[in-house]
Amino acid sequence: MPESVTTGRRPSARRFLVCEPRHFAVQYAINPWMRPDTPVDVDLAQEQWQSLIRAYRSHGHTVDTVEPVPGLPDMVFAANSAVVVAGRVFGSLFHAPERRPESALYDTWFKAAGYDVHRPENVCEGEGDLVWTGRYVLAGTGFRTTREAHREVQEFFGHPVISLTLVDPHFYHLDTALFVLDAGPEENIVYYPEAFSPGSREVLARLYPDAVLATRDDAMAFGLNSVSDGRHVFIAPRAEALAARLDERGYVPVPVDLSEFQKAGGGIKCCTQEIRS
Ligand code: ARG
Repeated sequence: MPESVTTGRRPSARRFLVCEPRHFAVQYAINPWMRPDTPVDVDLAQEQWQSLIRAYRSHGHTVDTVEPVPGLPDMVFAANSAVVVAGRVFGSLFHAPERRPESALYDTWFKAAGYDVHRPENVCEGEGDLVWTGRYVLAGTGFRTTREAHREVQEFFGHPVISLTLVDPHFYHLDTALFVLDAGPEENIVYYPEAFSPGSREVLARLYPDAVLATRDDAMAFGLNSVSDGRHVFIAPRAEALAARLDERGYVPVPVDLSEFQKAGGGIKCCTQEIRS
């Protein structure tokens, strides 16, 4: 009998904030995946994005949407707008001037939904680099979010912030190199070790000796940009080796193809902000 049948991992219902890719395009290059001359199939992007939303809803998750704005082609990447822990919203301040206007638009959504928003003083890109594990905020730096922002995050939440240095430009945000499988008592993560500096790798190995390690192929297929609800893992279909390993650990991979978004350096998690109330 496959272990997934016997381990009985329990999902928990999540609330997600997303932004329809109505104005999605690749118009500038701020990471190695982006080539402004590559056309994006907007209809296919829409279909792929809708299939992600359907997958979330059919697994019992709540999905809210923020209205997309013309001229902000990366606004679909909702994860970058904030990090929310226990109803407290730490907003964003983008590195690239092209993305800076997105922050205020998401702040407006949060305020209308009844949340106060902390406007950061230092460059930080929300859940792209700030990953809540249930105990710590794992915080990426090296390409976007700064160490000063990590300190600001720790002061704001009062939870330990673990700074991790990213070294490979393909994995410029922490959520392209690592995701949380389970934020409950069985807290665990998946990551691609080579995306991190040697010291950061050691930190991860000490904190998560039982972590699932991904290969470069998994990482290049955006397999680390996944969303887990504790049982189901919404994952890029080409991250086959990783999906097989997750299945062995008792998780249920739910493949969702967002290939059009990879042209902008984004995937499933990038399109998904989690609101933890
Ligand atoms: N083109 C966007 C950027 O470079 C992609 C953002 C992906 N988001 C993420 N959470 N990794 O900023």
